[in-house]
Amino acid sequence: MFFIGICGTGFSQTVGNGNVPEHIILNLTENPSESVAVTWRTKDAVAQKLQWAEVTDSPVLANDRQVIAANSSTITYIDGDVPPLMLTNHSAVIRDLEPGSRYLYRVGAETTWSEWIEFETAGLASDPITFIYFGDVQANIKSQWSRVIRKAFSTAPDVDFLYYAGDLINHTHSEEEWKQWFEAGSFIHASIPSMMTPGNHEYDSTALDNHWRAQFTLPENGPDMDLLSETVYYVDYQDLRMISIDADMMDESPEAAVETRNWLAKVLEETNKTWTILTLHYPFYSTKANRDNVELRENIQPLIEKYGVDMVLTGHDHAYGRGREKVESMTRPGEISGPVYVVSVSGPKLYGVSDQSWMSRKGGNTQFFQLISINQNKLNYKAYTASGEIYDEFDLVKRKGRTNKLIEKIPDTPERLYTR
Ligand SMILES: [Fe+2]
Repeated sequence: MFFIGICGTGFSQTVGNGNVPEHIILNLTENPSESVAVTWRTKDAVAQKLQWAEVTDSPVLANDRQVIAANSSTITYIDGDVPPLMLTNHSAVIRDLEPGSRYLYRVGAETTWSEWIEFETAGLASDPITFIYFGDVQANIKSQWSRVIRKAFSTAPDVDFLYYAGDLINHTHSEEEWKQWFEAGSFIHASIPSMMTPGNHEYDSTALDNHWRAQFTLPENGPDMDLLSETVYYVDYQDLRMISIDADMMDESPEAAVETRNWLAKVLEETNKTWTILTLHYPFYSTKANRDNVELRENIQPLIEKYGVDMVLTGHDHAYGRGREKVESMTRPGEISGPVYVVSVSGPKLYGVSDQSWMSRKGGNTQFFQLISINQNKLNYKAYTASGEIYDEFDLVKRKGRTNKLIEKIPDTPERLYTR
């Protein structure tokens, strides 16, 4: 969380029912086996606390509760002609937790506590990992996207975290759209930690949506550049390094592009994790010829091939595509090199797909979510349609001293083509 307003002191101690905490969300920290970040907001500038305890089957006793005072920041949200809105965002990081353990927390104050909410910390390096990946949410969020996150949750209620590939909303700074995003996710966002990378719809030129740093508390381990704070970062989740880079800012600012590239080289070189996944909004390879991103490939692709990034998860194209560049490895003749690339979409704004040689599976006019499971040297990937049908599947297997083996498991169902 990035503070641009007042912090801590000077708040009224009178808390009314209008100050029930809302937009409660968990975010992954840099080290999610020991900590989790919680962010929420209230209508007025009131003091807030977070209480947490070990999970219990009976009511949480007062003596078992640990208390953290929230960091608070009052912000005036400005969005074009919409009347300015003043709200107070709060955050707290729960630290010194045990790996693979369940806890309860609530946020608020004396008369306006939230419900107690359960969460689980990341486990040990060798434990399995599962997470959900959503492409662009963006449009008709409450009306037509809420069912996708709810289907994802009912399909895999025990996932470790959620990942959003940018364009969570459509109009930069739109309070109404963020309200819909939180309403759609509701307790899912409050109980499963998430990480997100921004898309072009979170930006107005180089101005990041004023909700982003206020309502999310994301790791601040990116490049030393304010413009990239909480948009460029990494999370080490057990034996997986998840890296977020800010594709839109790289486009807008040559300096940000250089800083990001240098930082990415460092975090790829230093990691000792078995698995590495790069997340960004713009695809390296697109689902339509006229949306190609040559510059991104020229800038970043040599790095991700050099350091053996396993997957690249993206959005932006409002269609589905998954494949691996069909290029022979320079160091392993006869083997295909490079990561598996995915473009996906979860919201109802949908574009067509055209035949692109990189794609092994493609789909149009369909909303998706993806479930990715890692168990030691094997990664399983499934793309589900909004109604819960498996549309695409593969395994990726680590082989000592060789490139990853890709085992296709594409279901025997017709491709959903849509060329508009
Ligand atoms: Fe986009």
